[in-house]
Amino acid sequence: EKITVSLIKADVGSVPGHVVVPDEIKKVAEAFLEEKKQNGDIIDYRVLNVGDDLELIMTHREGVDSEKIHGIAWETFELATKRAKELKLYGAGQDLLKEAFSGNIRGLGPGVAEMEFTERGAEPLLAFMMDKTEPGAFNLPIFRIFADPFNTAGLVIDPSLHNGFVFEIWDIVEHKRVFMNSPEEMYDILALIGGKSRFVIKRIFPKEGSKLPADEPVATVSTEKLFQIAGEYVGKDDPVALVRAQSGLPAVGEVLEPFAFPHLVSGWMRGSHNGPIMPVPFHYAKCTRFDGPPRVIGAGFQICNGKLVGPVDLFDDPAFDYTRQKAAEIAEYMRRHGPFEPHRLPHEDMEYTTLPKVLDKLKDRFEDV
Ligand code: 13P
Ligand code: 13P
Ligand code: MG
Ligand code: MG
Ligand code: MG
Ligand code: MG
Ligand code: MG
Repeated sequence: EKITVSLIKADVGSVPGHVVVPDEIKKVAEAFLEEKKQNGDIIDYRVLNVGDDLELIMTHREGVDSEKIHGIAWETFELATKRAKELKLYGAGQDLLKEAFSGNIRGLGPGVAEMEFTERGAEPLLAFMMDKTEPGAFNLPIFRIFADPFNTAGLVIDPSLHNGFVFEIWDIVEHKRVFMNSPEEMYDILALIGGKSRFVIKRIFPKEGSKLPADEPVATVSTEKLFQIAGEYVGKDDPVALVRAQSGLPAVGEVLEPFAFPHLVSGWMRGSHNGPIMPVPFHYAKCTRFDGPPRVIGAGFQICNGKLVGPVDLFDDPAFDYTRQKAAEIAEYMRRHGPFEPHRLPHEDMEYTTLPKVLDKLKDRFEDV
């Protein structure tokens, strides 16, 4: 029987500024989802947060893009927003960009990563949640997990991974997508996804003839771009991803391995700066220094008939201390550039921020040379 996992998230307000979701807001979400679990609408759920983003993980049998499930998520965010407004939290309802729900939560502000698949005899599932960055931040780790033999030993030594995977890549500017085979088209894949503000990995599929059905995704990333919905900067898109592991897929440790490198991502202060992504335990999932640096948490589960066994806090491990130290050093190095690129994002990427309003004032003072 197929199961669907939906990870749907939104920033509905935080304390102080954009630092962290308070427990009280998480409790509102938990109480509502518990009701939905009791009446059988969903099988199971967990409520987490990374920084100021409220994360709902739900399991059910409704498939992806279900009006019922998306409606539950929307209602959860509305209830949480109501409480956030009463508490005068910062950015209360920030990511709810539309007034009303209209059948699907995509395009309304929240981010969505969901996939439907046949639950295996043992089904390890990893949920990654980032704050102060954008969907393209997942390109590097997802590529390395499913295509880089220097990261994933199984690609070389396990016959069930040796044929590689199919990458579904979206052009989020032109709203097009392309399916590409790895390793055959690896260089072409990299030519696209290296441009991470435009081309983002949306899903990964097994190949025909693999142990797993070729039409069921094994990883998926949220690709919602808030500025495209709102028409202006209203906070970053703070992406999430789901990755399945083991038995014909990368092992859990191979899925975690790329996060040991704190690569540079766009986001951080005012969504306008490059900085290192720091993998942190849940209790450090709050963005302080310069509203950052950008963070990622990992929650590990086994799925049992749709029930979530977990989460295990995957980066709560001294094995990632070195990465955090390195990220802190890089954060310091980048900060020393102040308002200069490449710490500040290049001009094209500042188009949807508040910078054009500043430059507008100077328009008339320019003369020909
Ligand atoms: P599996 O085939 O059981 O996923 O074996 C891989 C493994 O556990 C290596 O760490
Ligand atoms: P969020 O998208 O996390 O709300 O970030 C907004 C921001 O501008 C932080 O400086
Ligand atoms: Mg915020
Ligand atoms: Mg955020
Ligand atoms: Mg945001
Ligand atoms: Mg094993
Ligand atoms: Mg073992």
